[in-house]
Amino acid sequence: MKTLIFNGSPRKNGDTISLLKHLTKRLPGEYKIVEAYRCNISPCLDCRFCKTQSGCAIQDEMQEVYEYLKDCDNVLIASPVYFSELTGPLLSVGSRLQTYFCGRFFRKEESGLKPKKGAVLLVGGGDGKPDKAYETAKALLKNMNCKEIHSLVCSHNTDRVPAIEDAHAVVGVEDIAGFFQS
Ligand SMILES: Cc1cc2nc3c(=O)[nH]c(=O)nc-3n(C[C@H](O)[C@H](O)[C@H](O)COP(=O)(O)O)c2cc1C
Repeated sequence: MKTLIFNGSPRKNGDTISLLKHLTKRLPGEYKIVEAYRCNISPCLDCRFCKTQSGCAIQDEMQEVYEYLKDCDNVLIASPVYFSELTGPLLSVGSRLQTYFCGRFFRKEESGLKPKKGAVLLVGGGDGKPDKAYETAKALLKNMNCKEIHSLVCSHNTDRVPAIEDAHAVVGVEDIAGFFQS
């Protein structure tokens, strides 16, 4: 089993990573983590390359992500909520998935991506709602050919309770691990 994880948090010991560690301990097989704040992945420049050709003209670490996406079984998007959205660098990485949209819409090609399961893990201080971030994450998952998507797992009170002490979120993360293996 192969799982690709996008981490949208800048904090090395923050809420997102604490729940991610809890999850990865329960994941059989291999996994790859894309650190949105630390990877060498540029945003999409709308150069229009992928309107007519498969892949992406930008040669950076995203090329490894495209390769991994071909045959991985699961994708997890994990992020803090910033202004009710996924964090900026995670959206920037996500913009590079535009090639899959162009494949479907303009090039009329199959993506070549194995069908996958997807899940979204969000954390937030407790302001507003995480719905918008979840909708965005689901749109990204669909671009990566996730056919089944787990219900949102969210710890949305981290200003008061660290995510790893949020029993509901911890159980949710364990449920994602089970879903990926089922
Ligand atoms: C720029 C910024 C914007 C934020 N916006 C929201 C928000 O809209 N809603 C919310 O509940 N929390 C918001 N937060 C709080 C973070 O989501 C929260 O502290 C989260 O637990 C941090 O996760 P991390 O430790 O994994 O980075 C914001 C924090 C920052 C720094």
